[in-house]
Amino acid sequence: MEEKIVIIGCGNLGKSIADGLLQGNFLSPSSLTLTKRNTDSLQRYADQGVQVTSDNKSAITDATLIILALKPYNVLQVLESITPVLKSNQLIVCLATGVELKDLHATANREVGIYRAMPNTATHVQKSITAICTQNHQEEELNRVKRMFETLGGVLHVDEELMAAVTVLGACGIAYVMRFIRAMVQGGIQIGFSAEMASTIVKHTVNGASELLLQGDTHPETEIDKVTTPKGCTIVGLNEMEHNGFSSALIRGIVKSFEALDK
Ligand SMILES: NC(=O)c1ccc[n+]([C@@H]2O[C@H](COP(=O)([O-])OP(=O)(O)OC[C@H]3O[C@@H](n4cnc5c(N)ncnc54)[C@H](OP(=O)(O)O)[C@@H]3O)[C@@H](O)[C@H]2O)c1
Repeated sequence: MEEKIVIIGCGNLGKSIADGLLQGNFLSPSSLTLTKRNTDSLQRYADQGVQVTSDNKSAITDATLIILALKPYNVLQVLESITPVLKSNQLIVCLATGVELKDLHATANREVGIYRAMPNTATHVQKSITAICTQNHQEEELNRVKRMFETLGGVLHVDEELMAAVTVLGACGIAYVMRFIRAMVQGGIQIGFSAEMASTIVKHTVNGASELLLQGDTHPETEIDKVTTPKGCTIVGLNEMEHNGFSSALIRGIVKSFEALDK
């Protein structure tokens, strides 16, 4: 059975998910509904046959799966507003950082499957890693939620207490990697490449490094050993980065992000 999905609060992340689901042929455009108060920025979806509306209640009428992609401060209020028309066979997936399952259940105030999920913006290209957590789930329902996110990349089922850490490593992680890529491109320009050529080399190198680990299931240090000749240029450069706090800066940044999220 094809899911009928509604994305309520379809901003940046909601659109990334809509794009990934459509590109991955998870559902046909007519089985997808997107909502936000001002729908102007959703016109390109309407042009493809996706239903677009600012009426959250009518949007969920035939939905099998409802994704709440709202900002955290909007989630409970919007959930409360749709509860009169919620059906017990509908599944809710909330993407908002920090909104806990117990509050979602208390607000929905009925027997309904509720999931929290933390993807990243690479859902747009079906390369996200998405962590999912839930309480008292039925296996078949969990599998439906997993199947949807598998169209958008990798999926992990975690305990709720790890959701904040997943937010930092997986969702904020996109920004850390982007900054790393930008710095490598700047280095590339200094040693002689045009910005465009440096960017092409770095994007492919980062992609290749990631695929080596994903496909080979090896450890980064094993791959580093393969390219570091004694007294060679790779180890000289790597050690210089470490003397300047490369690993330490990343670890400390991740911990600071985590602490900031906790406040
Ligand atoms: N960005 C990420 O990498 C990422 C990753 C994982 C999780 N998240 C979580 O995803 C959520 C969304 O983040 P975002 O960056 O996509 O935010 P965003 O771009 O602001 O999207 C939220 C959308 O909700 C809409 N909205 C507000 N009130 C509404 C209502 N009553 N009914 C329907 N739509 C409403 C807003 O549009 P209108 O003003 O037009 O209504 C807005 O476009 C956040 O909770 C965040 O914690 C983000």
